Amino acid sequence: MGMRSRHPKALGFRCYPASHRSLTLVLWSLAALVVVVNFHLLIIHKEEAESMSTHEIRRSIMRELEVVEEEKFRLSPPRSRRNPRAVRRKGEKKPPTIVDEFLDQSSAVHDMFFPELNTAVDPINGGNDSMYFYYPGRIWLDTDGKPIQAHGGGVLYDKRTNTYFWYGENKDGKTYKAHSKGADRVDIIGVSCYSSKDLWTWKNEGLVLRGEEKNVTHDLHKSNVLERPKVIYNDRTGKYVMWMHIDDANYTKASVGVAVSDSPTGPFTYLYSKRPHDCESRDMTIFKDDDGKAYLIYSSEDNSELHIGPLTDDYLDVTDVMRRLLIAQHREAPALFRHEGTYYMVTSGCTGWAPNTALAHAATSVMGPWETLGNPCVGGNEVFRSTTFFSQSTFVLPVPGLPGSFIFMADRWNPSDLIDSRSDVDAGFVNVQFFEFALKSDKTLWPFGRGVVVIHSS
Ligand SMILES: *[C@@H]1O[C@H](CO)[C@@H](O)[C@H](O)[C@H]1NC(C)=O
Ligand SMILES: *[C@@H]1O[C@H](CO)[C@@H](O)[C@H](O)[C@H]1NC(C)=O
Ligand SMILES: *[C@@H]1O[C@H](CO)[C@@H](O)[C@H](O)[C@H]1NC(C)=O
Repeated sequence: MGMRSRHPKALGFRCYPASHRSLTLVLWSLAALVVVVNFHLLIIHKEEAESMSTHEIRRSIMRELEVVEEEKFRLSPPRSRRNPRAVRRKGEKKPPTIVDEFLDQSSAVHDMFFPELNTAVDPINGGNDSMYFYYPGRIWLDTDGKPIQAHGGGVLYDKRTNTYFWYGENKDGKTYKAHSKGADRVDIIGVSCYSSKDLWTWKNEGLVLRGEEKNVTHDLHKSNVLERPKVIYNDRTGKYVMWMHIDDANYTKASVGVAVSDSPTGPFTYLYSKRPHDCESRDMTIFKDDDGKAYLIYSSEDNSELHIGPLTDDYLDVTDVMRRLLIAQHREAPALFRHEGTYYMVTSGCTGWAPNTALAHAATSVMGPWETLGNPCVGGNEVFRSTTFFSQSTFVLPVPGLPGSFIFMADRWNPSDLIDSRSDVDAGFVNVQFFEFALKSDKTLWPFGRGVVVIHSS
């Protein structure tokens, strides 16, 4: 993450170089976006009656989301809380863009994207009020009433226990810079795990992989970086295997780390880190295909391209096989899924902490070639569509019981002021039923970022 400023102009959004006043900002907390990846063209032939209602639900969600609040987003940024000298100092002539305001902790606009705790999703105490649904940026409380800490995360559905496990970075710490030129960071705390039967009520299972306090040579020493942990289950060995991005504070190590456990709730034993195929690896994910084969996908060559390669049968290492994809396209934050015979991947651009335009890609073989389909975001208005609803992809989860519908999980990274260190922070996603519920309630409760990611499966 910290080294994401290399291609700031690629998508026309300003990135925040170290010289900007955001020097005094910290960039760690995040929230999340939830949208449904929907296949317009999916027609279900079997189980006619049931499928029709499924299809109808999906259509109605789509219709409403596509038109949502197109014209309600009229923003002339309130300037009162900004320091006017900051603007002059930069010699800035143009008014700040909405993305600038979004990133600027001192802007009132910023707060609108990061709703207060009193609007949090609270499945235990939420009852039947009109807030009984998720929208992007809302804080999501676990069953203890604490904000969920699972960033850059992913979800494992565990067939053996019929339970969902949500893994992600626990960033509930102080944000600081390791040195004057360093990226804003939070010490490694570890990987959180939450369990749920319904994708709505999440129980904190604690840290399933802990950061290392004392041993400074250890990959997980708190001074290092652990991002985007993902867990898959190996049917042959009966082990839960976690892959993650491991780095030093300067993002020069650019490696993947591997950990393993007998239980989805850990504790995971950390095994090692390496550069896969002797290549840099920063943003990454793993993907387990229907045939049990698993793959590592990672940004490489200075984040200019993605690499994909199969894991070994035990999922504990990569094999020697690797293909390069999206060469010179500078994509990161890959999230893969499969629908029938086609593989899909959503990626983001590389613009530091600033949100940018997602792209969807498709392939008939997971190893490629991959074809770029375009921006999958619809609904909201152009600002939302071009910023992935102010979020960055991390995972795509098939919706249970709704074949062809997927939940898109993303992180809404939040530049936070050191003094006002809210690590309030939350990533989340919603069951499609809750979307539907929400659509029947007061629409004004969706001020920002309601939308949907649509990939046409043609
Ligand atoms: C919510 O409302 C529905 C229908 O009015 C009712 O069946 C359900 O028990 C309520 N749930 C809670 C948690 O109050
Ligand atoms: C510290 O970590 C390194 C690398 O994992 C390991 O080789 C070494 O044994 C550890 N030292 C202690 C005292 O645990
Ligand atoms: C990171 O870079 C800074 C400044 O260039 C340097 O002082 C520091 O030792 C580096 N840290 C690591 C872990 O490489």
